[in-house]
Amino acid sequence: MTIKNIMVIGAGQMGSGIAQVFAQSGFDVKLNDLSEEALQEGLASMEKILSRNVEKGRMTEGEKTATLDNITTSTSLDDASDRDLVIEAVVENMDVKTQVFQKLDEVTPEHAILATNTSSLPITDIAAVTKRPDQVIGMHFMNPVPVMKLVEVIRAIQTSDETYQTIEETAKALGKMPVEVNDYPGFVSNRVLMPMINEAIYTVYEGVAEPEAVDEVMKLGMNHPMGPLTLADFIGLDTCLYIMEVLYEGFGDSKYRPCPLLKKYVSAGWLGKKSGRGFYVYE
Ligand code: CAA
Ligand code: NAD
Repeated sequence: MTIKNIMVIGAGQMGSGIAQVFAQSGFDVKLNDLSEEALQEGLASMEKILSRNVEKGRMTEGEKTATLDNITTSTSLDDASDRDLVIEAVVENMDVKTQVFQKLDEVTPEHAILATNTSSLPITDIAAVTKRPDQVIGMHFMNPVPVMKLVEVIRAIQTSDETYQTIEETAKALGKMPVEVNDYPGFVSNRVLMPMINEAIYTVYEGVAEPEAVDEVMKLGMNHPMGPLTLADFIGLDTCLYIMEVLYEGFGDSKYRPCPLLKKYVSAGWLGKKSGRGFYVYE
């Protein structure tokens, strides 16, 4: 199957980035969120990134306008009734995601593929709440979506080869590099990345070093583009905590225990860049 039109559910930092890269590649995109306000914020962040591309000569004003013209907004999941592919990018919470998938399963055409951008939740369990588990798959984009090349494509145990092939081809059509992995907690990306971030938080918790020092060590010593605490703030500390909890529960291994300091920050509403405070303070 060739995908022509898509819908993205959730217009947050990931959803707006996903909608942008599809629209830039000529797909017809519907962007959905719960409120008009969330949609306008998503569109504003896209507009900012596209304007910077025009300033830098990476795109013409005409291409920017064409990209934005490919996107329409929606606050009702019923609008998915004419879509070939729907990509869910709502909050990392299993109850919310399964509700969205059950509704999408009711309203989308029979041929439609339902994908999730989850960072760690089991795709097999999400597929199981639908009547088309062979057409459910993980399409895990990396943040910031317009910049990062990888799409980690996660096969649920039920995912058909045809669904996998279609998603692989679609990721390539966006100029991304799909990498196939199987469905285990955290997949590959976050099983490797998140324990490093969690360990960096432990070094702060135990007074080994200040956040700035931890980040400098990893940037200057290991050539990481961002230190792990800056990266945690960028991803969102709530998302980091949800992922650690999935690893901890999924493997039943104490090595994945979320750092108590991470839990405390999330309880305080210090979610990183998006809330104005995390390991650093943002204007
Ligand atoms: N959206 C779009 N473009 C962005 C951007 C954003 N949020 N942030 C930066 N860019 C672009 C900028 O436009 C810039 O290009 P120009 O200056 O030519 O316009 C380019 O990226 C480089 O940016 P900067 O010079 O400001 O800063 P940088 O050199 O440090 O690069 C970065 C920024 C690409 C984000 C880099 O710091 C980086 O690669 N950081 C690590 C990102 C990472 O690890 N992502 C994965 C997170 S984990 C995940 O996504 C999975 C999960 O489930 C949690
Ligand atoms: P975010 O908090 O920036 O955005 C989530 C959006 O979903 C919000 O705009 C919210 O209003 C909307 N939403 C919530 N419930 C909804 C519903 N029922 N219907 C429609 N919209 C709804 O979160 P994010 O960082 O964009 O993360 C979204 C997903 O992507 C999560 O599953 C996360 O784990 C995953 N992810 C995040 C990153 C990252 O670096 N932040 C990277 C890869 C994957």
